[in-house]
Amino acid sequence: PSRPLVITVTGGAGQIAYALLPLLASGYALGSEQRVSLRLLDLPVMMEAMRGVAMELEDGAYPLLDAAVVVTDDPRVAFDGCDVAVLLGSFPRKPGMERKELLARNATIFREQGESIKAVARGDIRVLVVGNPANTNAWILSQYAAPAVPPEHIMALTRLDHNRTRSLVAHTLHCRVDAVDGVVVWGNHSSTQYPDVSVATAPNVTRGRMRAAVGGEAFLRDVLIPTVQTRGAAVLAARKLSSAMSAANAIADHLRDWLCGMKAGDSGQSWVSAAVMSDGSYDIEPGIFYSFPVRCAGGGAYEIVHDLPVDEFSRKYMQATGDELIAERDEAIALLRRGSAL
Ligand code: NAI
Repeated sequence: PSRPLVITVTGGAGQIAYALLPLLASGYALGSEQRVSLRLLDLPVMMEAMRGVAMELEDGAYPLLDAAVVVTDDPRVAFDGCDVAVLLGSFPRKPGMERKELLARNATIFREQGESIKAVARGDIRVLVVGNPANTNAWILSQYAAPAVPPEHIMALTRLDHNRTRSLVAHTLHCRVDAVDGVVVWGNHSSTQYPDVSVATAPNVTRGRMRAAVGGEAFLRDVLIPTVQTRGAAVLAARKLSSAMSAANAIADHLRDWLCGMKAGDSGQSWVSAAVMSDGSYDIEPGIFYSFPVRCAGGGAYEIVHDLPVDEFSRKYMQATGDELIAERDEAIALLRRGSAL
């Protein structure tokens, strides 16, 4: 790779950024050959904190990192010529805030960022949305970045949920995490997400046997599914801060697979989970950003894995999380039409 990859990270002064930036600068995320050039975007009040982060990146003396780290509060500067955008910056839920208000605040941010990306980024940009509500933020962004940026270039992160599921299965079976393959997280990155182990495999657990191996439907319903669904809240309650180390690690995993490809034996999985625009697969409403099993060939190409069996148990969960996404999209449409996005 001759020229450095321009990576823009929004929410550059936040806690996920602080854990993610060293993974990008060191080559952990994108390999030891890929030079990177970093642009950090945050709000004007965070400029000073961000300059501190840029100082620390300089002090890391990372061989792969372009010396000039750009720090800005202007999206047009941040996204100018950008190859990869990781969107962490979003409006956090405050105590007592209604979901609708959260959606409205973020609709504004992701509309503006979609417009900026459309205006100044490279057409082949890849955008990973992490800031919550991530799936619907990705949908909003896709509306305003089109047609310059096709929706296939935009994803929302559910890899953390995927990693949590895989790890929980490994703990339950007392096996290595990299020996667990074939988990899927379906739907929204929210408490309705559906972590599915029905076709997962592990040493001595062949396809179709995983549900029984971990403890049957009751264990799924009462332990595994709710544990993964509420894991973010559990970390928040324990740490008094939301997941950042594990989120950054999941972002690195996602970017590596998406941009470099899931080479056999490397990611070691048959597929991974990512929220992409639904093409109607598995009877999911077309157009919403829904987490599916995907395979990535590298260079930003991906395909949804088709033809996994879906039984009645799974269908119920897949439908519920899809219904939530349709409702969020419809709320976003109403807010943006009325011009009442805040
Ligand atoms: P944080 O609060 O530490 O940092 C967020 C940063 O974004 C702040 O510095 C803030 O000033 C900035 N920001 C706010 N509005 C902005 C805008 N319009 N443009 C640029 N920057 C802006 O939050 P943290 O922990 O880094 O998390 C970031 C987001 O990621 C949150 O929305 C969180 O809910 C979400 N998240 C998503 C996960 C996923 O799996 N999809 C997992 C963990 C967190």
